[in-house]
Amino acid sequence: MTTAYDTVVYPSMVFEQTHPDRLRALAQIHGLAAPEIGAARVLEIAGGDGLNLIAMAAANPGMACQGFDLAETAVARGQALIAAAGLTNVELQVCDILDACERYPAGSFDYIIAHGVYAWVPEPVRAGIMALIGHALAPDGVAFVSYNAMPGGYVRMMMRDMLLHALEGTEAINEKIAITHQCLELFSKPQDSDDVVVTALRKQAASMLERPDSVLFHDELGGTFAPQRLTDVVAQAREHGLTFLTDDSGARLNLDGFLPDGVAPEGDLDKLVVRAAQASDYATVRFFRHSVFVRSAHKPLRVFDPQTLDGLWMSCSLKKEEDGSYRSGRTTFSLKDEEMVRMIDSVSAHWPERFPFAEKVLDAGRRRTLLDMFGRGYIRFHHGPAICALSAGDRPKLSPLVRAMFGRGETQVATLDHKIMNIQQSELKALLLAADGTRTLAEIAALPGLPFPAEHVESALDAAARRALLV
Ligand SMILES: C[S@@+](CC[C@H](N)C(=O)[O-])C[C@H]1O[C@@H](n2cnc3c(N)ncnc32)[C@H](O)[C@@H]1O
Repeated sequence: MTTAYDTVVYPSMVFEQTHPDRLRALAQIHGLAAPEIGAARVLEIAGGDGLNLIAMAAANPGMACQGFDLAETAVARGQALIAAAGLTNVELQVCDILDACERYPAGSFDYIIAHGVYAWVPEPVRAGIMALIGHALAPDGVAFVSYNAMPGGYVRMMMRDMLLHALEGTEAINEKIAITHQCLELFSKPQDSDDVVVTALRKQAASMLERPDSVLFHDELGGTFAPQRLTDVVAQAREHGLTFLTDDSGARLNLDGFLPDGVAPEGDLDKLVVRAAQASDYATVRFFRHSVFVRSAHKPLRVFDPQTLDGLWMSCSLKKEEDGSYRSGRTTFSLKDEEMVRMIDSVSAHWPERFPFAEKVLDAGRRRTLLDMFGRGYIRFHHGPAICALSAGDRPKLSPLVRAMFGRGETQVATLDHKIMNIQQSELKALLLAADGTRTLAEIAALPGLPFPAEHVESALDAAARRALLV
């Protein structure tokens, strides 16, 4: 069967929020002990070509990863990448969500991920996603479901209506994309009569133009576009024995799993948490959610206990601005506490090394600050030391996944710390490919035809290690 995703290829991506290391940390801060990462059994539902899952498997050889998607060509691309990288701990299958309960035994996955699919499939398939999670999640497992959320979804639906109107009668994909661009460009131009609401909508149209064509084609113009209210998603999850743990949305809103300050921890705390989170969606015009679920038998802590950070490790790579503030992506923030500044600077300087929490921060107030920073995506929590090389070492070895991606001619590669990195320079690529784990640094430097100065080989490979490219 040929699906729309076979006809127009959806971009390969990795999603930090879906990583079991992060999901386990979210469980831990709510007082729950989720399964070990090193030997985790992970299922990704409708993961397209599976790069997100493949990158996890490549970095964690003890994990057992299974993924599926309906689009045969996407799955075939992923299977070819798995073979080229020589990975034996990850498998991809062609399967329909509605048939997946038969394929996977009950309770057989520690972590289940459904990214970017729930709000783009018809209601029976949406229900099928929750049913599959309810069926396949292990008793202490953690599940991740992301979706377009309300009320921001109303804005996106307005844009979609406008575009579908403009596209009426158009069949050819190229034409559809061209008309979509024209329509958004025209609409995004400010007019004298604009009030604040119209100005905001025009900005929304302008931001849509920044997305890749294939994402616009599938996300905004696909057959089903059904943004969800958190309360409805939670109700559907409950039908399948799942409880809302929290939301993991990086820089925008965070710590949704805890009661807001000032709310007394009395009554049905799970219900209070969801009500407060839904209210905040209205208050902030939320567009997207990354909701995390556990089995209903668990009673997550709904008030932060600083002790729950015991046993966690942390890492960060924050850039310091001249004025002493920190930059993370597009946001900047400042820390007033000198001790925290010293600690963050020292951890950042050692990226991607990880440090046990208890060694660094014992004070409850500082732990709370770090929790906020984790919620905003400024720092990472882990469950052990780094899983990539921290320096070039004697015989540096490039990640087999990166090698395989280079082999396919790709410049956007998935690193061992679950990020995408753009490597365009052919000299750097040649150097990295020479690092095959058998050659010493001196042998690499002496390779004929290596377009890289020999005296820079070690420092360049050290730098590659700091970008989590070496095993
Ligand atoms: C928007 S893409 C998201 C892909 C990937 N999870 C991501 O976030 O980049 C939606 C995916 O859902 C898959 N899909 C849609 N309906 C499905 C079904 N009934 N069973 C399995 N996969 C399905 C599509 O083939 C597509 O790969």
